[in-house]
Amino acid sequence: MIFDTNTSVYAVFGDPVSHSLSPVMHNRAFESTGYKGVYLAFGVKNIKNALISVITLGIKGASITIPHKMEVMKYLDKADDVALQIGAVNTIINIDGCLKGYNSDGLGAVKALSEKTVIKGKNIAIIGAGGAARAVGFCIMKEGGRITVINRSTEKGERLAGDLSSDFRPLNDIGKMKFDILINTTPVGMTPHTDVMPIERRYIEKGMVVMDIVYNPLKTRLLKEAKMAGCVTIDGVSMFVHQGAFQFELWTGIKAPVDVMKNAVMNAL
Ligand code: ATR
Repeated sequence: MIFDTNTSVYAVFGDPVSHSLSPVMHNRAFESTGYKGVYLAFGVKNIKNALISVITLGIKGASITIPHKMEVMKYLDKADDVALQIGAVNTIINIDGCLKGYNSDGLGAVKALSEKTVIKGKNIAIIGAGGAARAVGFCIMKEGGRITVINRSTEKGERLAGDLSSDFRPLNDIGKMKFDILINTTPVGMTPHTDVMPIERRYIEKGMVVMDIVYNPLKTRLLKEAKMAGCVTIDGVSMFVHQGAFQFELWTGIKAPVDVMKNAVMNAL
């Protein structure tokens, strides 16, 4: 692809960003749709200065990642309702110098789930109560899922459950309940600790839908056990690609080439 003065620039800002799969995913999407864009990764400590650069250089849009998703909100002109509810922004668009923030994480999770199951009316266990759980929780709540927040620490779990108007149960109680859908939002099972899982195997029952937001490894121990138990499984790449597809469509106005994006991520993993 030839870059010229008409090429639109996009970026990811985070610290660290060296492992981000967003550049490979978005650049393949630009290429396959013929959109004149380029997407670059910047390791950034000061997010306020990064946003000044966005305006100064006319960067068209950016992904915001760890540790800036909350702080970035202070420096935006506007934020979308979903992002405001979640209290975190992972996507910005620059429209003629006006910066608006969005959160595509929860939308990506809902899209990934919706490919395999109905959400409305289902009993859904969200394991974890951090930023990812919050994003996933608010968007699932909007779709009419009946959420129970399940977390190791009571304080954090109760706080998220309160914000979602849902139930909270400590992790140790998971065996006392029945769920249709179980979503792991904790880092448990991530490389290099791939032999662990967030709940005991005996609590995974045939017929459940089990989703893991961890995508490194692609098949986490939780997903392997769930598959063996006869569950429908959804890996973390699905959510990652769908949240990226939302960003792509917001920035370009073009339908995202989801399969191309997924292949790019799978090849890079
Ligand atoms: P993120 O923003 O990526 O969601 P986070 O805010 O650090 O990350 O939240 C991580 C979540 O995973 C927390 O809910 C944490 O539980 P605690 O509130 O008890 O800390 C959960 N978590 C992390 N490591 C865990 C582990 N080994 N076992 C169970 N839960 C864990």
